[in-house]
Amino acid sequence: FRIGVLGAPFNQGQTKLGVKDGPQTIRNTGFIKKLEELGHDVVDAGDVQPDDGVDGETGPSGEKNHRRVLTYNQKLSEAVRKIREDHRMCITLGGDHSIAIGSVSGHCIGTPHKQLIVLWVDAHADINTGRTSPTGNMHGMPISFLVQELKHKINRLPGSEWPQPSFEVKHLAYIGLRDVDTLEQKYLDDMGILHFGMRDLDKIGLSEAVARCLDHLQPTESRSLHVSFDIDVLDPFEAPSTGTPVRGGLSLREGLSIVEEARNTGRLRGFDLVEVNPTLGTVKDAALTAEAAKAIILSATAGVRG
Ligand code: ARG
Ligand code: MN
Ligand code: MN
Ligand code: MN
Repeated sequence: FRIGVLGAPFNQGQTKLGVKDGPQTIRNTGFIKKLEELGHDVVDAGDVQPDDGVDGETGPSGEKNHRRVLTYNQKLSEAVRKIREDHRMCITLGGDHSIAIGSVSGHCIGTPHKQLIVLWVDAHADINTGRTSPTGNMHGMPISFLVQELKHKINRLPGSEWPQPSFEVKHLAYIGLRDVDTLEQKYLDDMGILHFGMRDLDKIGLSEAVARCLDHLQPTESRSLHVSFDIDVLDPFEAPSTGTPVRGGLSLREGLSIVEEARNTGRLRGFDLVEVNPTLGTVKDAALTAEAAKAIILSATAGVRG
């Protein structure tokens, strides 16, 4: 299986700067060597570095580091596009979750048919706009930049047409939610976005929820599946070193199970692993979190064909 790995050491979508070390920490687990041992053809395309000297001003609706976030993501999207055009699944290592603006856009542009379906695995919905966000942190906003239906609610950089939406909300599903802001919930309900929070999982079970997500997304030949996996979907006991932990989350085994089902569609071509921040908690916490990230990434690829 052909795989490209990209580091996105970016931390300007929130305030806990150690998330910049996520890619290095995940690489240090040796997951690339492991992928090669499993027989995959892996190219490590290195890190996409943020450019120095980009203005850190706040956007028109309070989006912190607006220009830094969008400028970086446009660059990242080009790197992801190249990996897709080389017919590889792209694994992007964050960085905070704002990097999904670039990884998803790049996956979309670099893929024939440009029909993307997206499974967002996260404790958070990350669908705020500048106006709805309680924090102004852009790692809570990537979906609003990516979906067609919110195109007219977001603020672009002056003079820039980037990003253009990558998919419609009917091609999006969420799993693992447990900390959704009031106005985010309104978006989910008003637009009828398929979502399974932890309470839904309690009621119907994880495997049923994953099956319903995939049934809804319909991964067919012409549709390319992107899974954006925020490590904070896992319970803080499993993955403590992350910036916005929320108690009552998934076990590692449950996280693996979601990704295995997504991989088994044979359509998984983009994967983000974000929000690993090795500077939070103890050394042991950081190691535990990195090992969880490694296991999740391997589950996205092991056994894949095509
Ligand atoms: N909803 C909150 C916000 O908008 C938290 C977002 C957390 N996002 C994340 N990718 N960890 O700030
Ligand atoms: Mn999250
Ligand atoms: Mn609900
Ligand atoms: Mn997130």
